[in-house]
Amino acid sequence: MLWNKSLETGIALIDTQHKELFRQIDDLLDAGKGNRFGETLNFLEKYIVKHFTDEQKMHVTSKYPKAAKHKEYHDNYVTVFSKLKEKYAKEGPTLENRIAINKTVVGWLKSHILVHDREFAEYYKSL
Ligand SMILES: [Fe+2]
Repeated sequence: MLWNKSLETGIALIDTQHKELFRQIDDLLDAGKGNRFGETLNFLEKYIVKHFTDEQKMHVTSKYPKAAKHKEYHDNYVTVFSKLKEKYAKEGPTLENRIAINKTVVGWLKSHILVHDREFAEYYKSL
């Protein structure tokens, strides 16, 4: 499991969704070279969008001062993710594509959670 306790924000909804995201990424890694890789990517993309939308709703309802900036990070990530997905759809599960996806998906998410989601969690819990 890629998720670990250091990624916890203390906000139940966010932590549950983050765990689910990492569970799906685990699946993605397991899918390996098979056809399931493409399927799992589609599923993950939808879940990422749903999760970001839920997080952004919390930012807005709690009047988070960095809401707009945080949404920008999410939007950029969705763009990067869908570009990688397109490249994968065109070229197939080459080693290069799988490495790029794994690195981007896991790397970005972890650092985003540790820096930006944690910052929001501090704000949210101080209200
Ligand atoms: Fe976020």
